Amino acid sequence: MRDGSSPVSDRSRLPPNDPRQYDDLADEWWRPDGVFAMLHWLARARAALVPPATRPHALLVDLGCGAGLLAPHLAGKGYRHVGVDLTRSALDQAAAHGVTPVNGDATAVPLADGCADVVAAGELLEHVPDWRRAVAEACRLLRPGGLLVLDTLNDTVLSRLVAVEVGERLPTVPRGIHDPRLFVDDRALVAECARHGVDLRVRGVRPELRGTLRWLVRRIRGAGPPAGRAPRIRPTWSTAVLYQGRGVRLG
Ligand SMILES: C[S@@+](CC[C@H](N)C(=O)[O-])C[C@H]1O[C@@H](n2cnc3c(N)ncnc32)[C@H](O)[C@@H]1O
Repeated sequence: MRDGSSPVSDRSRLPPNDPRQYDDLADEWWRPDGVFAMLHWLARARAALVPPATRPHALLVDLGCGAGLLAPHLAGKGYRHVGVDLTRSALDQAAAHGVTPVNGDATAVPLADGCADVVAAGELLEHVPDWRRAVAEACRLLRPGGLLVLDTLNDTVLSRLVAVEVGERLPTVPRGIHDPRLFVDDRALVAECARHGVDLRVRGVRPELRGTLRWLVRRIRGAGPPAGRAPRIRPTWSTAVLYQGRGVRLG
């Protein structure tokens, strides 16, 4: 779309968070000015939490990998990147970017206990009706000493306002993609990870303000793909809206 609007599709008739929306939006994943633009910015920030692999054949399991937007940011870090997702159209694109695709549910992942050096869950948990089950699976997949990295939306009034009421009216977030009833309280998430042996630390993050405004203005004016570097995701003092988590699986 060059006019600042969201792509027109049948998804307007789908309920919030219906996974079929991702099929309707399949052409948007890899467009830097598409409705998934902010996922690109978040993928870069998530990858920055992942250190280079410390052993040959190290495995990173990317739960809810979508079209594999994390892949370019992991280049050179030495992981085999396996992506698990419900949406086949997204997995096809992930595979084209070097991700080994697994069509499955993050709440019942068909991979062995302790197989992963790193598990990533980027913008996934707030889409899963039973997020605790997905967390249990993420922790199960990690080897002792393995690393969990994630980002998600908090279960707060402010988060509903910013991510849904405002965010979904901007061209960086698809309208109707979220069901705020699924948003994830940060303290509950930390507690759930601890129950499964992962010591998760969380911090608030947000897109940088000036770069994002510049990006939006260009995008809304239809000035073509925004020039210059994409806005960065920065740490912020509050976890009330968007937050990252990073935690190690204890032995
Ligand atoms: C907002 S997208 C995030 C994609 C990717 N992690 C990224 O940041 O670019 C959410 C993804 O989670 C997938 N998804 C939602 N529920 C899922 C589930 N229960 N199991 C596996 N994938 C799921 C969707 O198909 C979609 O690709």
